[in-house]
Amino acid sequence: MHFSIRRAIAADFPFVVRLEERVFEPNRRESRRSLLRSLRSPHQEVWIAVDERGAPVGVLVLRVFLHTIRIYSIGVDPIRQGEGIGSRLLEWGVERACARRSDRISLEVDARDQRLVRFYAGKRFSPVCTLPDYYGPGAHGLRMVRRIAVCECGDARSPVTVGAGDDEN
Ligand SMILES: CC(C)(COP(=O)(O)OP(=O)(O)OC[C@H]1O[C@@H](n2cnc3c(N)ncnc32)[C@H](O)[C@@H]1OP(=O)(O)O)[C@@H](O)C(=O)NCCC(=O)NCCS
Repeated sequence: MHFSIRRAIAADFPFVVRLEERVFEPNRRESRRSLLRSLRSPHQEVWIAVDERGAPVGVLVLRVFLHTIRIYSIGVDPIRQGEGIGSRLLEWGVERACARRSDRISLEVDARDQRLVRFYAGKRFSPVCTLPDYYGPGAHGLRMVRRIAVCECGDARSPVTVGAGDDEN
């Protein structure tokens, strides 16, 4: 199935909100306000995966720090999951890290969701620390990081043209 990735525009906001509601439990969702901030912030990038008819099917929200790109949110329409869209969005995050000259790309995942932890491990993300009660009492998070080697970026390394945001560390 063919799909592509494009930068989100203001008109994507309803889709971004709806997808968040469909794929995350209420206590895990970003608020409308936070999602709007993501769309407007110069330190965040929102990317939309679209199918061959141009219909949006997935979202990737990135927060750009000086040395790190952090995946704030990644989600794929439930009826389109398992088609490789999430993998492609993750790879796109890595390409953005290359373009931004980031050293690493990071994310947080529910430590209990071993299927998801394995998914990220298969994409060369390694667990670096446990985040106690990150998702609520007893629901620990796991921070996973993929280091970006210059040699894997090829031509994707481009001059940084947008303000690089704060340093996460
Ligand atoms: C995780 C997610 C983005 C993957 O997108 P996708 O398009 O289905 O991914 P791909 O088709 O590239 O790869 C499929 C793999 O994703 C993982 N995956 C897919 N659905 C999943 C789910 N509901 N829970 C956990 N992992 C899932 C599995 O590893 C799966 O491989 P498997 O079927 O061999 O186990 C998507 O399932 C999703 O939106 N999940 C709900 C939101 C979420 O949990 N986001 C991540 C927060 S850290």
